[in-house]
This record gives sequence, structure tokens and C-alpha cells, in this order.
Amino acid sequence: MTGSLPVGARVRVRVPATSANIGPGFDALGLALGLYDEVEATVVPSGLTVEVAGEGATSVPRDGNHLVVRSFRATLEVLGADLPGLVLRSVNRIPHGRGLGSSAAAIVAGIVAARALAPEGDKLLDEAATLRLASELEGHPDNVAACLLGGLVVAWTDQAGARGVRLEPAPVETVVFVPGEALSTKVARGLLPPTVPHADAAANAGRAALLVAALTGAAAGAAGDDVDVDVLLAATEDRLHQPYRAPAMAASAALVAELRASGIPAVVSGAGPTVLAFTRVGESGGLPKRAPQGFAAMVLPVDRAGAQVLAVDR
Ligand SMILES: Nc1ncnc2c1ncn2[C@@H]1O[C@H](COP(=O)(O)OP(=O)(O)O)[C@@H](O)[C@H]1O
Ligand SMILES: [Mg+2]
Repeated sequence: MTGSLPVGARVRVRVPATSANIGPGFDALGLALGLYDEVEATVVPSGLTVEVAGEGATSVPRDGNHLVVRSFRATLEVLGADLPGLVLRSVNRIPHGRGLGSSAAAIVAGIVAARALAPEGDKLLDEAATLRLASELEGHPDNVAACLLGGLVVAWTDQAGARGVRLEPAPVETVVFVPGEALSTKVARGLLPPTVPHADAAANAGRAALLVAALTGAAAGAAGDDVDVDVLLAATEDRLHQPYRAPAMAASAALVAELRASGIPAVVSGAGPTVLAFTRVGESGGLPKRAPQGFAAMVLPVDRAGAQVLAVDR
């Protein structure tokens, strides 16, 4: 036991959006994006107050079911620290239920905030243990790993829990096309078949390997630059999840097909329905104009820093 958190202790954290799968890397690859939620947690004598601005302001619960509160409390339990009362203020920019990792960001925000406030938190919950806890709460490791570590991650789970390797991304930027309608990750997962043809699995394994090469600059362009867009187009091809989920997101599937037909590496982001397209840094300019009706387009850089404690006072 490390005792009770002192009243007045306060922490502010910033967590990035993430895109998982990136085509063939189902449940394995994650990329952090430069769009952030900010959370401020203040320890008070008693009770729970939750204030939410921005995304989710009209939909997320204001009680103990709030995802940041749940992960904050779960983390304090792991750390053996008691919480008298909590005021949580969040400014959300990551849209919910769109496949941009809002649930992972909320979970990571709660963990990183609690870890920063608890005495010895960083020691008791090192990077590896933090990832395991985040993945347990989220149910899969790819988004939480990218959110924690930033950049490009390859994540997996073994008997001991989730693990992840961070890689430095090549100079790419993204355009995300966010539909107005949400699609819950749970619903999207329900559309996947129990088995897939061996040829499809084999194709995906090869493309996922190629994708890691392409996104880390190992497959350099003919002109000597770090990104070969043609290779990236091949490397983002998927046969394991996007085709099965297409009926639940017809407009997104059509946009992916249209962008890819014109040579732009585009994928469904995570469980969808957001579409993510890659360009070299500085070359995304004209792409947002291709947003069909019902989609909002944003140019997002890759985030390289991951979850950050902006300020802590304890
Ligand atoms: N910042 C947040 N605060 C509270 N709850 C959140 C937050 N972000 C996400 N959630 C919860 O997670 C849900 C979305 O999770 P999910 O279906 O996995 O979609 P996403 O692709 O956005 O992660 C929201 O409906 C909400 O219940
Ligand atoms: Mg999610």
C-alpha cells in the first residue's frame, strides 16, 4: 500500500489518436496520429465530478462508468493507492466510435494520469506493465501501444500479456476521412468470420511484413526518398477484415476503393468507419477535397511522442 493520494494533487496529460490494423496488420500494427485528447485530474476530499468538452460531450457517462475514470481507478488499485475524491476535466478532440482510437486514448489517459499521481507510480508501473494493463482494459494491444509509445508499433499478446515494439516512422502524413456516423468496435468485430482461406492469410502476412518495411523507410523510393508510394499501396492491401466489414460501412469501403484505384494508399482505420490515406509529408494538400458528402477530412501528422504528462503537482 502506498496510502492515499493527497488532496490538491493534480495532473494534466495529453494522449494521441491512433489508427490500428493499417490494412493487413490486423490487431498488430498501430500508428499514433497528431490529434489529441487532454485530461486533467485533481484529487479532492470526496465525490466524483466529470466535465467533458468536445467529442463525446453529449454522450459519455459522467459517473464511475466514464472510461477515463474507470482506467484511473483500476490503475490506482494496481498501485495500491486510495483516492478520496476526483475532479476530472477532459477536452476531447478524437471522435468516438470512428476507428481513431478514442477508447484507447481514454484508457491510456487514465493510466498515465494515475501513474503520475501515485507515489513511485513510474517505478511500480513501468512501460511494459503499463502496456499490459492498458491492453487488458481495451481488449487488444494495437491502439493502446501506439497511444502510449507514439510512432509506429508492432504489438502482440503472449501468456504474460501485451507487448509492443516501437519503430520510427518514415516521413508520411495522413488524411483521415471521418464519417458522421459511428460504428462501435464491438459491432465491427462481430462481422469477422471464424476462419479465412489460407491464401488470404498468406497474402496478409506478406503485406504486413512489407508494410513495416514501407512505413519505416526500408523500402526507399526510386528517387532516393524514404517513402515509395507504390510499395505502400501494395503494402496496405488487406484480405482479412476490410472485405468482411464493408457491408457495415459501404461509403467508407467505396472511398477506400476509389482512392486506391487512383494510386493512393488508403485503408479503413481500425474497426472503421474512418478512412485513412497516406501521402509523403507535405503532399496531402489536395486530398481533403476528395471527401465525399458525409465525411469530414483532416490532415494529420504522425505523432512521435505518444502519451505525455504535461504537468504534475503532487
Ligand atoms: N475521452 C473519453 N471519455 C470517456 N469515454 C470515452 C472517451 N473516448 C472513448 N470513450 C468511450 O469509448 C467508446 C468508443 O470506443 P470504440 O467503440 O472502441 O471506438 P473508437 O474507435 O473511437 O475507439 C465511446 O462510445 C465511449 O463510451
Ligand atoms: Mg476503440
